[in-house]
Amino acid sequence: MTIMGLGKTGLFSDVNPLCIHVIKAKSLARTLSQEKRSEYAEKLLTLVKVAKDKAANHPRHEKLDVSYRATFGKSEFFSPEQYEAILRVRSILDRIGISGVRQLAEVAAIRSLIPASRLIRRGDLRFKREAEERRGTENFIEAFSASLELIANDLQELTPSDGSIHQVGMSALENRYDDNIDAIITSPPYLNGTNYFRNTKVELWFLGYLNSKADLSAFREQAVTAGINDVTKGKSNRRDGRFESRKLDEIVREIAECAYDQRIPAMVRTYFNDMHEALRPAFAALTEHGRVCIDIGDSVYGGVHVPTDQLIVEIGERLGFKLKDDVTLRERMSRNGRKLRQSLIVLEKPSKGRVERISTRSRWQSFRTNLPHRKPGMAARNWGNKLHSLCSYQGKLKPAIASSLVDIFVGDDGSMLDPFSGVGTIAFEASLRGAASFALEISPSAFRISHAKLSRQSRSDIEDVLEKLEAFLSDYRASDFEMERALQIRFNKTLDEYFHPRTLNEILGARKFMALNDCSSPAVSFVHAALQHILHGNRPYALSRRSHPLTPYAPTGPFEYRSLMERLRAKIERSLDVDIGDRFREGHVWQMDATDPWPGEINNIDAVITSPPFFDSTRFYLGNWMRLWFSGWEAEDFRIQPQKYIDERQKTGFDVYEPIIRQSRERLKPGGFLVFHLGESKKCDMAEEIEKIAQPFFRTFDVFSESVEHCEKHGLRDKGSVTAHQYLVLQS
Ligand SMILES: C[S@@+](CC[C@H](N)C(=O)[O-])C[C@H]1O[C@@H](n2cnc3c(N)ncnc32)[C@H](O)[C@@H]1O
Repeated sequence: MTIMGLGKTGLFSDVNPLCIHVIKAKSLARTLSQEKRSEYAEKLLTLVKVAKDKAANHPRHEKLDVSYRATFGKSEFFSPEQYEAILRVRSILDRIGISGVRQLAEVAAIRSLIPASRLIRRGDLRFKREAEERRGTENFIEAFSASLELIANDLQELTPSDGSIHQVGMSALENRYDDNIDAIITSPPYLNGTNYFRNTKVELWFLGYLNSKADLSAFREQAVTAGINDVTKGKSNRRDGRFESRKLDEIVREIAECAYDQRIPAMVRTYFNDMHEALRPAFAALTEHGRVCIDIGDSVYGGVHVPTDQLIVEIGERLGFKLKDDVTLRERMSRNGRKLRQSLIVLEKPSKGRVERISTRSRWQSFRTNLPHRKPGMAARNWGNKLHSLCSYQGKLKPAIASSLVDIFVGDDGSMLDPFSGVGTIAFEASLRGAASFALEISPSAFRISHAKLSRQSRSDIEDVLEKLEAFLSDYRASDFEMERALQIRFNKTLDEYFHPRTLNEILGARKFMALNDCSSPAVSFVHAALQHILHGNRPYALSRRSHPLTPYAPTGPFEYRSLMERLRAKIERSLDVDIGDRFREGHVWQMDATDPWPGEINNIDAVITSPPFFDSTRFYLGNWMRLWFSGWEAEDFRIQPQKYIDERQKTGFDVYEPIIRQSRERLKPGGFLVFHLGESKKCDMAEEIEKIAQPFFRTFDVFSESVEHCEKHGLRDKGSVTAHQYLVLQS
């Protein structure tokens, strides 16, 4: 009616014929010419006389009587006197020749049915209690006549409208109105048990829509499930278009545990499936930037809160909508004292450009289902570009996982950031595809490796660095002070126990050389990364006695001189042979604390994808001490620096992630993703903790756990208490 008042065109949809009848009568009244309205008003007033004076002369409507018995059995909703009057008025109405007049008169009649009955509408329709009964019942003919007069009067006063409204089935929206509707404004059934058909059964009967008990359930079958009586096997078993949501699963499970009637959890699940089905055609029908405004309230079942608004937002987002607003319209208390709210959700259909990203959902679903990194091929230890192995690193993500995440959330021409870059696995995968990649990393050791991998290397620049290094080392003699400082670092063994003295002298020289050289040079970083790789290991490429490539285990075997330059050149040769392809796009990496303000270049990006330190990692620097030392740390740094590392800081709380999440939100494009790859352990559910911090900034797109208890360990950090890898996917 409001749309008509504005002189615009509107569509309406409802499955209850009573509502459709009333809407049509109202819109008819609004479109009649002045002349017609006077004519109709007059006819309605004549009808008042007929009803008052001659109702008894009209026959009972036998068919209506039969349908009453067939539908309501022996229930006596009316006194015999009122019932008779109703049957006769029905006959009067049927004899009206002008359908518009009949439509309006029918509204007057249905408006008078409940006041003239033994029923009362208090939320739901029910029999009056004694006290209510004592207040009396209206006379049907009187009530009907008064309503006719009211409508006649309204007709005289109405201003005509140029607008129009038309009935439409929701499913027809999809095909008939593609991209044509500017806004959808609606108040769908709340999940509160209201049974709209039972509540309007008397009017539906009068209008001829109920001829047997089965008719009521047939209507319910078409409606959104909103009450337990609406739950039918057909509906709850329906699988197509099912709305899968972890949040909903949890709620349904909790309700099932405490519900007195198992139809309640079924109702909750079916309600959201139905809402999903109802909203789906809306997306196609809307224009770009078209909006859906939904008035909705949340509810509580057996003490379990059902955040209907949030779940509807989740449905909307799955369908490709973007949340524009969520306004509290009213707050109220549930029976058990919980605050409930009525809210207005505003969803917007993004422009075509963004609509493309709907398929992010299906790509993600496919990743979840197929776990490609576990399939033959991608599961291979050496899968991916060989430069991923430029330097081993404790905590490195499997390149196959990084590759899938970049495919899903960034694509070939997108942009991304990894604020906990490590050795740059994720950003490197983005660069390989030609996407814009940014990375932050606090550790000087990992930073160099990320920097080396995210740059397109020049063989001649590297050769240049190697020559300079060789010249530097040729007459290098480490000072006593330098050696003393180095030996102050004591973890499992001191440095002199790892290397032949000559090799150690060369390593000290190379460390000094690196400290003196420009760390912004990609070639220097490449050589640095290669040196870190060969520092320790268990094969001939390594400079150390027999140890481990990932973490410097106490060495064994003979002390023999291993030439640094020889092994370095061999490693560099192997690494430079790797083809990074024509699409490779250089990334940017900053050595910094990711909780500090991010560089301005990181802006308007498609995704932040990251794997922060796992919660259970104990003293991370133990596994990496030799490379950290080589990258410049002195003995005291091992005491001071870790305080800046998330590894340590998260032990006292997950608030440390707030600046990262907040800045992600600020730097992401609308609809962009923040994806965490996390470790779940018996001690800590990282996804749950981080999701809490993210709540003010992001909507949860998905949380998914991939058990790693029974599969091959990916690296040393998995050893210990990590039971699952979690993917926390947030969307802005
Ligand atoms: C699990 S690793 C990331 C591994 C990475 N995905 C890869 O494949 O190499 C976590 C990284 O976070 C880094 N880190 C810890 N605290 C940080 C901070 N405050 N700012 C930036 N990086 C930090 C650590 O140095 C470590 O490299």
